[in-house]
This record gives sequence, structure tokens and C-alpha cells, in this order.
Amino acid sequence: MRQIENTRVVILGQGYVGLPLAMRCVEQGFLVVGFDVDDRKIDQLNSGSSPVEDISDSELAQALASGRYIPSDDPGSLAGFDYAIISVPTPLAAGQPDLSYIEAAISTIAPQLRPGCTVVLESTTYPGTTDELVADRIEELTGLRAEEDYHLGYSPERIDPGNPVWTLVNTPKVVSGVGPTSLGAVQWFYDQCVDKTVAVKTTREAELTKLLENTFRHVNIALVNELAMFAHDLDVDIWEVIDAAATKPFGFMKFSPGPGVGGHCLPVDPSYLSWAVKNRLGRTFRFVELANDINRHMPEYVVRRLRAGLTERESLEGASVLLVGMAYKPNTGDARESPSVDVATRLIDLGADVRVIDGHVDSSRLPRGSVEIDLTAAEVASAEAVIVLVDHDDIDLDLINEHASYVLDCRDVLRGENIESL
Ligand SMILES: NC(=O)c1ccc[n+]([C@@H]2O[C@H](COP(=O)([O-])OP(=O)(O)OC[C@H]3O[C@@H](n4cnc5c(N)ncnc54)[C@H](O)[C@@H]3O)[C@@H](O)[C@H]2O)c1
Repeated sequence: MRQIENTRVVILGQGYVGLPLAMRCVEQGFLVVGFDVDDRKIDQLNSGSSPVEDISDSELAQALASGRYIPSDDPGSLAGFDYAIISVPTPLAAGQPDLSYIEAAISTIAPQLRPGCTVVLESTTYPGTTDELVADRIEELTGLRAEEDYHLGYSPERIDPGNPVWTLVNTPKVVSGVGPTSLGAVQWFYDQCVDKTVAVKTTREAELTKLLENTFRHVNIALVNELAMFAHDLDVDIWEVIDAAATKPFGFMKFSPGPGVGGHCLPVDPSYLSWAVKNRLGRTFRFVELANDINRHMPEYVVRRLRAGLTERESLEGASVLLVGMAYKPNTGDARESPSVDVATRLIDLGADVRVIDGHVDSSRLPRGSVEIDLTAAEVASAEAVIVLVDHDDIDLDLINEHASYVLDCRDVLRGENIESL
């Protein structure tokens, strides 16, 4: 019987996914190396400053003080691991899955991989990555065969940064293995970390589960976004329609329109699926293509609506526009693929004077040509238009309502004569 306190876990990638898992493992008594190739991140972690909003500095300090959490960029620190969890980026490169980070992580693990160890991939990817790419590459580098010599599995991450209700611990976690022994090892590990694990047949079902979840959101958001554009032209209040539909206790799930989709998941993951369908089956995943098309065009639509809203103006050149919220969703500092950045860039290209507010996003992530300001009555009053793109909890919406002459509200959080909802 394996003992938690003797189990050495290495988590490759200390980002939004890897760091919370590392903290949970330490809390549960594992010995954890948080490995990352970014030496600045490792220095930051070692200094006790958390780079991820969901993890507080005090949580990190506690983990460091326990002596059971070691952030490191030294591949030698992986020596003697029992479990290696891979949570590195899986972006798109020229519209295609870029698995080079996973491959690099495997090369780091390989020299330390011993019979009896367990390797789990958490990065989002298309079905077949674990039992083909990961297994084959490990065998090539070490001669060890998955399931026979070591355990190999996939467990998709469902973490929702900024969500205080559904956390790593109380969100059920799907687990899988390339065979029964692997599944046993993978499930044992996650059973120590989360309230409930859900085992599926093979790693392929687990990989596709994650892509189904994200594609489901992507497609449904695209549906309400397209409907929002039609409803506006038909003079129907889409927000009231959605709220009314959401009173149906069955068969409907509420999704809200917005300025587009961002973050690491929705703009990227469904394309992993459509790529796999195209590559393996030679077919087109039409739902994904359509959702991509609609959601990608939303920032352009926001600019169009602004232009239409500023009735006195011929063009947006020289217009002073205040953008509220540059992250991709509320209460996070994550601005990756943020549609707000796209809106800002478009306005800057049209010659607008763009000011932005977001206390969560690092200034280096703000679009070049924009001016970062604090939310004050004077700034709001001097703007010709305010666009509410993201409604972080710390944004004083009343102040905007009171002082703005015109607001394009992409989140339907304001009411008043001067407010127009998307
Ligand atoms: N952020 C989310 O909400 C979320 C949710 C579910 C799944 N995911 C998936 O999890 C994976 C990781 O996403 P994330 O948001 O944590 O990314 P992130 O960018 O926040 O963190 C990834 C970390 O991996 C590090 N890294 C890169 N190459 C490495 C290597 N070879 N070895 C070790 N570290 C390496 C990077 O320096 C970075 O710190 C992705 O596949 C993503 O799709 C993310």
C-alpha cells in the first residue's frame, strides 16, 4: 500500500493548472517538486510570491515552510519521482496543435523514469495523444513500455480560475489509464487530492471529455452571440430573453453573449478537436468552425456597435474611449487571447484615444498604444464612450453609471438612459 508521505510527485508546469495542484498535493502530505522551465517564475515562487491569483501568497508560504514543496527549474530535481504530472501549455501554432511543450516535458522526465512510476498528462489535447505520442516517445527514450513497465494516464483539468465555488477539490475529476494497472495508479493519486474521481475506459475517452466540455461552451456562447446580433437588429432585448428562457427548469442552460471568447481554453481547445477530425477522418467539424467564426468576429461587432452608438461622429478617429476590463473574464488577471485586447487594438488602429482599466491584468499585457488609468469620476466623465467588456467585482459600476455620457455594456450589468447593452 502506497503512503502519501513517501510519495514523490513532480508537477511539470507551475501555471494556472500546475500550481493549484501542487498546493493541494502538499496540503495532502505529498513531497512535491514544482518544476517549470521559466526561471523567473521559479524565483518568484521561491520568494513566496504567487503568480496565480487563485493561490494566495500565504498559501504558498505555508507550502514552502512545510519543506514539502520545492519549486525548481533543475531537471535533476525530478530524481526519484513516483508520479510525474504534465501540465504544460498546448497552444496552436499556425492553427495547428503545438505539442512541443509536452514533448519537451517528456524529454525532461525520461532520464528519471523508473519502472513502477506513474506519468499523467493533464494538458488539454486531442484523443490519442497519451497512448500514442506520450507512450511512444517515452518508449523511444527509455525503452520502458506503458502499462507493462510504468503507469501512464490522462486526467483533464477542470480548474476555473477565479471561481470561488467550484475548486480543484470539489469538482469531480475524470481519470484514465492506458490499462487497468495504470488506471489504478492514476485514480489512487487523484483520490488523495479531490473529493470525487470519475474513471473512464481509456485515455482517449478522457481526452475527448475535456474537448467536449470546452466545445460545448464555445458553441453555446457562439449561439447566443449570433442571436444577440440578430436580436439587436430585430429590436428585441436578448438579455431579457435569455433570463426568461433560463427560468425553464429543464432542457436549457444559460449562456450569455459577450465581446468574444478568450483565455487558454475556448479559442484554442475546440480547434484541437477539429484538427483531429480533419487529420484522422478527413472531415470538417462544422460546429467548431462556425463557432470559431462567430466568436472571433465579436470584437469587430463591438467596434461596429460603438461606431453606431456614437451618432454624432463620422468616424472613431480621435474619439476618447474608456475600456473597462482587459482580462478575458471577470476576477482574473489572465489576458491571454482576451477579446478586450482585440477591441482595444481595433480602436487604436482606427485612431481612437484608448484608455483602459483593469487592476488585475499586468501592465505588460495591455495593448500597445493604450493608456492605463484608474477608474475615477473625471476619467469616466471625460470619455466620449465607455465600453464595459469585463465586470470584475472590484469595478465601481455605479460610478460609471453616474458619470458616463454613453456606455456600451457588453455584460448587461448597467441600467440607465446612457447605457446600451450589446
Ligand atoms: N488555465 C486554465 O483555466 C486551464 C483549465 C483547464 C486546462 N488547462 C490546460 O492545462 C494546460 C496548462 O495550462 P495553464 O493555464 O496552466 O498554462 P500556464 O501558461 O499558466 O502554465 C504552464 C506553465 O508551463 C511551463 N512550461 C512550459 N514548458 C515546460 C516544460 N517543458 N517543462 C515544465 N514547464 C514548462 C510554463 O513556463 C508555464 O509556467 C494547457 O494544456 C491548458 O489547455 C488550462
